[in-house]
Amino acid sequence: MQGHVDNDPLRGGTLDQGVFSEQTYTEEMERVFGTAWQFVGHTSMLPEPGDYHSSYMGEDPVIVTRHLDGEIHVLLNKCRHRGNRVCLFDRGNTKSFTCSYHGWGYTTDGTLKAVPFLADTYGDSFHKELWGLVPAPRVSVFHGLIFASWDADAPELRDYLGDAAWYLEHLMVDEALGGLEVVAGVQRYRMPSNWKLLAENFAGDQTHVMVTHASVLHVRAAEIDPRLGALPGRDVRAKGQSFAAACNHGAGAPHGLLEIRVGDAYLEHDLAQARTLGPDAEAWVRERHERRSAQLVGVGADPVPYGFHIGNIFPNFSIVGLGTALDGVGLLLWLPRGPYETEVWQWCAVNRGAPAEVRRRQREVLMEQQSVAGVFAPDDHENFERIQSNLKTAQARRWDMNYQMGIDDEAGAIEHAGWAGRVTRSLSEENQREFYRYWHELMAR
Ligand code: FES
Ligand SMILES: [Fe+2]
Repeated sequence: MQGHVDNDPLRGGTLDQGVFSEQTYTEEMERVFGTAWQFVGHTSMLPEPGDYHSSYMGEDPVIVTRHLDGEIHVLLNKCRHRGNRVCLFDRGNTKSFTCSYHGWGYTTDGTLKAVPFLADTYGDSFHKELWGLVPAPRVSVFHGLIFASWDADAPELRDYLGDAAWYLEHLMVDEALGGLEVVAGVQRYRMPSNWKLLAENFAGDQTHVMVTHASVLHVRAAEIDPRLGALPGRDVRAKGQSFAAACNHGAGAPHGLLEIRVGDAYLEHDLAQARTLGPDAEAWVRERHERRSAQLVGVGADPVPYGFHIGNIFPNFSIVGLGTALDGVGLLLWLPRGPYETEVWQWCAVNRGAPAEVRRRQREVLMEQQSVAGVFAPDDHENFERIQSNLKTAQARRWDMNYQMGIDDEAGAIEHAGWAGRVTRSLSEENQREFYRYWHELMAR
């Protein structure tokens, strides 16, 4: 039961709970978080040379810096002398980091510059240049999103993102509209769950929205969006349906996107909301729609998707809030803190080029909906608390989980025109199956 590496953890759509065990956890910190590309921040958080912020790659603390030459570095936040953290702050601007223990000092590219009593106490055998902060060997920026990997041989970030890059470029980062801008500050909270259960939830769990969050949808349907009317359909040309995409299906790092929305209902909804904010907001919503549509027609997408609402970039970077023009974009990291605990870091991004009233509304919508005190996360928290206890007790952990929804659809994807990835009905657990398939591949390497 505990061995995951020798057994396919998803035999016939059922998952051995050994993937959530303590032994597995120790190994996945090396095999998954030691190799995969991971989101560590956004360039708008580091506009000036000397700017930095703290982040994590798995359990490892990192400092993300913009050095004096403008280059971005991702450095292990561990003093090379005796292992203290050298950066103690969430964010700031500095020329150097000085360790609070014995005073070793490092510049923002990680170079060791200062060692107290160096001349008097260290001989010729000490080579300062060998004792800089450890850099992530691979750092890459995708339209402002900063990713890093500990694996010097990792594929190019764009290849790693694969099909997901298509959705991010056309339906999220909005370069043609000025790009995204992260609002200052980060929300941090704990979820009582294994990180994988949270990542897979964002990768493809449409079903729970209708059940776990039913009360929210009933009370707030009119304001939130036309989600209740979005049937998980099979025909991309039928009105008001929603879909999922398994990006990089069966090959490489899988990224699950959910609730790809098609049809005019979403635009109408956004325009009605924007009118309450004024004519500039309404004009911006129209402009956004027109620019995106033109772009998508240009790449041969027909019909043109209006947006997707939620997704997960493997392993633990989730995005939410793209379903309508007035949602802020939540950028979430599911940071593992032991097999049964996850620390969530959540940033809010808004459209840089949008009128101030739209940006304000985007922020409010995200905070009100998907945040620690929003209407959605506390419902999820309650489920995960109960699941957590059933991950570790002697009898409960013997029984597999079920991931069979939509498994018989696997023979044929939904016909769609020009969208990237493998499109399925939104009511499917294909993205979750893909998540564990690749996770297993990494664990077995
Ligand atoms: S631990 Fe950092 S200077 Fe000693
Ligand atoms: Fe949820």
